[in-house]
Amino acid sequence: MKIKLKLTRIIENALKDADIKADDIVISDATKPEFGDYQFNGVMKLAKILKQNPRQIATRVIEHIDTTGIIKKVEVAGPGFINIWLDNGWLSAQATAIVNDDRVGVGYFSSNQKVVIDYSGPNMAKQMHVGHLRSTIIGDTLANLLEFLGDEVIRQNHIGDWGTQFGMLIAYLEERDTDGNTQELKDLEQFYKDAKVRFDQSQEFANKAREYVVKIQSGDRHCLRLWQSFIDASLGHCEEVYSKLGVKLTRDDVRAESFYNPQLPKVIQTLEKQGLLTLSDGAKCVFLEDWDTPVIVQKGDGGYLYATTDLAGLEFRAKELKANRICYVVDARQGQHFKQVFAIAKQANMVNESVKLEHIGFGTMMDKGGKPFKTRDGGVIKLIDLLDEAVVRAKASIKERDAYSQEELDNIANVVGIGAVKYADLSINRESNYIFSWDKMLSFEGNTSLYMQYAYARIQSILRKYNQEEIKGDIIISDETEHRLALMILKFEDTLIKASIDATPHTITSYLYDVVTLFMKFYESNPILKGGIEEEIKISRLQLAKLTASVIKKSLDILGIRVVDKI
Ligand code: ARG
Repeated sequence: MKIKLKLTRIIENALKDADIKADDIVISDATKPEFGDYQFNGVMKLAKILKQNPRQIATRVIEHIDTTGIIKKVEVAGPGFINIWLDNGWLSAQATAIVNDDRVGVGYFSSNQKVVIDYSGPNMAKQMHVGHLRSTIIGDTLANLLEFLGDEVIRQNHIGDWGTQFGMLIAYLEERDTDGNTQELKDLEQFYKDAKVRFDQSQEFANKAREYVVKIQSGDRHCLRLWQSFIDASLGHCEEVYSKLGVKLTRDDVRAESFYNPQLPKVIQTLEKQGLLTLSDGAKCVFLEDWDTPVIVQKGDGGYLYATTDLAGLEFRAKELKANRICYVVDARQGQHFKQVFAIAKQANMVNESVKLEHIGFGTMMDKGGKPFKTRDGGVIKLIDLLDEAVVRAKASIKERDAYSQEELDNIANVVGIGAVKYADLSINRESNYIFSWDKMLSFEGNTSLYMQYAYARIQSILRKYNQEEIKGDIIISDETEHRLALMILKFEDTLIKASIDATPHTITSYLYDVVTLFMKFYESNPILKGGIEEEIKISRLQLAKLTASVIKKSLDILGIRVVDKI
């Protein structure tokens, strides 16, 4: 339900009827219950323009507000706010209408777009580490969200499979005669270290590694085969992580750096034709207005750079994939890179002016001491190890709660452990750094996945006590806790739209926290299972609980987090 849009129309009409001209009307959520459900704060701005007393204008507007249907009451407050209360009858009808709707009342975008989401993008020379967690899960959430709202989403995994280090790695692969399938590649981190030792210790090996770089680039069959087997093994590691995380990326979504190689000379030609290239110390550069440092697109020795590949990628995504919006879910520290690359792509007409280009940046995961997250001896933490540890810890913290069968316990621990890691990350404003804490993320209290999963399971256990066929009837909103809970549930669509525009998963988690907190209050004051409750009331409460469970489930679905019927 697009409640804000409805209220905007009502205020627009009131202003028109009151003969007041105004554009961009913004309705906001009331910050406190005593301010009603929503507020219109725009009168102050109007008053300035009209040079009139804001309270007088607000009073005039209020007289023209049509309160039939959705609105119960409007009031002028403070220096000229208009506070709006919604009608319980209206809320009841809207909530009842969506109890059995599998989209929980959420519509589709009216003009759907083709959106490319570039996320995860691990480097194939190494194993995925915690730094790749954020891109992978924020990107996946965004993809789920836009898909749900009706956009055509194209997931792109821009893996780093090209560069000089691959010469060293495949030379070592050949020397070990492993063909990419053995135990040795189980730990890519170790394999890389061992290869580096060889590289530093043997001149002959180092020469071969360098020779192999040139050979892969010129398409040598033998070297390419070795390279491919190495990439396959490395991608296999990533897929193991994706599957544990429940992230939807597949091999079909991989569009690696190497994919763009054939296009790189053309990128240089295009920039040349557009008069954007400058030769500086033998390197080809683009100087942009407002930037001190140029962007190098081809080195003196002919080698191309990260930015060159991204330019080719932008052109491909805009022209071949025909995207209207292209989102890069990449570490905030690459902000300058993306600003520059976007500016060049537009200036060179590689991307049409109307295409929206967005860097969806995110901060760093820190340890308790506020330092980037590392192992005790300062090494990188492999993502797979972190996820396994999450499941072990989740198991320890839930196993005493009930007499679970082994299978049940394993399943719940998986859902809870992985959910905790994902939720803890997604619930932070993505631009901030955050402190990784096992205790906090595995808590039953507060804004955690467990709190949401537990509420969901609890509702399921209540519903199980009834024959589902018998739960039929209206949601009747009769008190403040029901009013607030139902209204929050009906805000689902407005929330998802906001999250999709800002590309902020935490908008969804904060909302979910509000829903569940309101549900707990409702459940405390409006018991369901107690005896002596009128049938109609009991059904209404059951329906509201069922609707709450649907919102929890759908929100967690979008966040890529699973639920269980029992915790
Ligand atoms: N491989 C890069 C890294 O680990 C991320 C790639 C992001 N995508 C892109 N099109 N540049 O930093």
